[in-house]
Amino acid sequence: MARRQPAVSVADHLCIEETPTPCGVVIFGASGDLTRRKLLPSLFSLARRGLLPESVFVLGFARSPLTDGQFRNDVATALAAEAGGGADAARIFSRRCHYLPGSYADPALYTALAERLRALHAAHGTAGNTLFYLAIPPSLYGTVVANLAGAGLLADAPGQPPWRRVVVEKPFGHDLDSARALDEALRGHLREAQVYRIDHYLGKETVQNLLMLRFANAIFEPLWNRQHVDNVQITVAESLGIEHRAGYYEQTGLLRDMFQNHMLQLLALVAMEPPSTFAAADVHDEKLKALRGVRAFTPASVAADVVRGQYAAGKVGAAEVPAYRAEKGVAASSNTETFVAARLAIDNWRWQGVPFYLRSGKRLKRRVTEIVIEFKRLPHSIFGPIRPQDLPPNVLTINVQPDEGITLSLQAKRPGPKLCMSTLSMVFNYREIFGEEPPEAYERLLLDAMLGDQTLFIRRDNVEAEWAILMPLLQAWTATAADGAPCPLLPYAAGSWGPAAARRLLARDQRAWHTR
Ligand code: BG6
Repeated sequence: MARRQPAVSVADHLCIEETPTPCGVVIFGASGDLTRRKLLPSLFSLARRGLLPESVFVLGFARSPLTDGQFRNDVATALAAEAGGGADAARIFSRRCHYLPGSYADPALYTALAERLRALHAAHGTAGNTLFYLAIPPSLYGTVVANLAGAGLLADAPGQPPWRRVVVEKPFGHDLDSARALDEALRGHLREAQVYRIDHYLGKETVQNLLMLRFANAIFEPLWNRQHVDNVQITVAESLGIEHRAGYYEQTGLLRDMFQNHMLQLLALVAMEPPSTFAAADVHDEKLKALRGVRAFTPASVAADVVRGQYAAGKVGAAEVPAYRAEKGVAASSNTETFVAARLAIDNWRWQGVPFYLRSGKRLKRRVTEIVIEFKRLPHSIFGPIRPQDLPPNVLTINVQPDEGITLSLQAKRPGPKLCMSTLSMVFNYREIFGEEPPEAYERLLLDAMLGDQTLFIRRDNVEAEWAILMPLLQAWTATAADGAPCPLLPYAAGSWGPAAARRLLARDQRAWHTR
């Protein structure tokens, strides 16, 4: 079959490229899943693309008693499997990797770490520049950071080499108070400019493309407001269940796992005003304003505008899958949600009256992340008897994953002597245009952290604003439970699009989810 011609072509390209200064990357949690599946493959890929200086080295730190040689073998095996990089290239990269075993709580170990780092920096000519990546549970952040500071490893004078930065993974706390407490623990030893709070969604190509779409084109921004947009829908659907993470998930639930970070970040990127530059402070300021504009939930609006669900047994594709409560490690009476849909309002001039519908869940029909901008219908139809309400609205869809790209639906005439219209799509498909898979989100974020660019990381006040939006939901849910009545938790069949109430949330406004 002939290959379809891409609907758009890439003419000239303008690039902003920088290479980080030589540095060491110290990974806490070096034997964990994140390190094996994301961090090492991303560093490997950056190295192969020539984006990392040759001298960059990795020092893994974890409890498992491994030698350098054993760690390098593990790295080479993981890279050959995960990054599909070829055994030779993986083995060569693994020679840059070193390992130090120990307990995160043992201050003596940090003296050893300091000595080891001094020797590695001298051998690699990396001048003491260090990126510490905390791929460990957040409950350990305070201890690790205090110990690093105690060993003099976080000293960093603004604008002067060497630099020391710390990347922290979500969850940033369990609620607003614990997020503030975590932050205090970090701030005792680090300036905000040294803290890189990661949300891997911001490293996804299509999420970054949303910024290009909005702010590198002049045609969308005039339409990007309440005059022209009818509603915005953000769906992050997963077909997977909780895999082997029952312990974490039982404590967390979907709201904290997905809404507090990824979902609200996507909302902020859609809703924010144009920043005056792409510098971190300008982008973070605008996102903060958008998040602060989200109308505060009340107990009544939580009840009316939020749907909370948990998957029951069902069929995802061809596979029969168990209910959440039957998953290994989950309590048979678990009250943890695996689905949330919510209708949010943003009280500002741009978005007044435009609902933002957000929905995310595990074990849904298929894996898809999409941002849908539905425009208003025609004010009048000149094609009588076709009425304005007969014509579907224009819809701009940002396909974040898995079919990365952007689609704009339009009405067009069908060929032939009769006046027939139908909806066609202008499609930009990432793979068709660029002929390759989008890079892993962590690649961009690791590179930015090494470059000292915090634009795609989350600033402290943005984290707090996200928690502030969600606290009324958490309070309403626990308050109901404390009354003795179970907190509303609607079952949905695995492999569906969630509880029927999520459909009704839009149907009540005469709307429907686009992603079905
Ligand atoms: C993580 C969540 O942050 O994001 C997981 O903890 C979720 O529960 C994952 O599965 C989804 O990420 P992605 O990149 O696969 O969409």
